Amino acid sequence: MPAQPYDLDAELARAAEVLRSAHRVTVLTGAGVSAESGVPTFRASDGLWEGHRIEDVATPTGFRKDPELVWRFYNGRRVNVSQVQPNPGHHALVALEDRYGSGFALATQNVDGLHQQAGSKTVFEVHGSLRRTRCTDCERVEDRGLTDLGNRPICAHCGGFLRPDIVWFHEPLPEDTWMSAMRAAQGCEVLLVVGTSAVVYPAAELIPIARRGKSPGATVIECNLDRTAATTQADIGLYGPSGETLPRLVELLR
Ligand code: APR
Repeated sequence: MPAQPYDLDAELARAAEVLRSAHRVTVLTGAGVSAESGVPTFRASDGLWEGHRIEDVATPTGFRKDPELVWRFYNGRRVNVSQVQPNPGHHALVALEDRYGSGFALATQNVDGLHQQAGSKTVFEVHGSLRRTRCTDCERVEDRGLTDLGNRPICAHCGGFLRPDIVWFHEPLPEDTWMSAMRAAQGCEVLLVVGTSAVVYPAAELIPIARRGKSPGATVIECNLDRTAATTQADIGLYGPSGETLPRLVELLR
């Protein structure tokens, strides 16, 4: 039998129907939700890592080897993010939070802070934040905004070297934040997976966690430009730019 042609309108209608009867909704976002704001994604051909090997700029070993290169890279990202604005996809997720209130949570792999800038309140930043630094000696964490901090920023309290408060490859996620994200995935009726390739763990584990969650498990809605590693776990797929599909979904819910 020939496969049915993909019908975005029909998928949007199915997603709206599921969301209309839900009370607990969790969202997992990745770089794609910020793409239309002008923040490069990671694994696209014009990706952020171009010109830099991941090991050089996003691992503890890379930082030990060449902290100035790592800081140049992160200062560039900080300045980029200081110049962009949340897009309609971010704003649509704020509207969803308004609808579900305390039944809503958003776990993001993004470090750009654009969800909070748009007005999202319950946000679990499982990969840290570009705004924050952490002292490699006294461990003090500080919000330093999005300015260029120079090539070798030093802790004002103990004189130790600062690093970005970002979760690099081979590092554990911040425990409390991760536990909160897992609880939100376990307890939701609908998990919306937006703009992530779903290949980086443990963040991508939130999808099976939600599916196995409290009986009967969550309905998973994927919202992405393309099919991904999460597609086989999704019940509904909204394929297109999230800055367009999410506002349409919210409109259907009104
Ligand atoms: N709308 C929806 N999805 C989009 C859009 C868009 N406008 N533009 C791109 N995408 C999708 C891509 O199709 C891709 O599936 O966003 C996804 C981006 O994937 P990645 O670049 O791999 O980003 P992400 O999944 O967030 O990466 C996870 O990997 O490098 C680490 O720590 C880093 O948090 C990051 C993690």
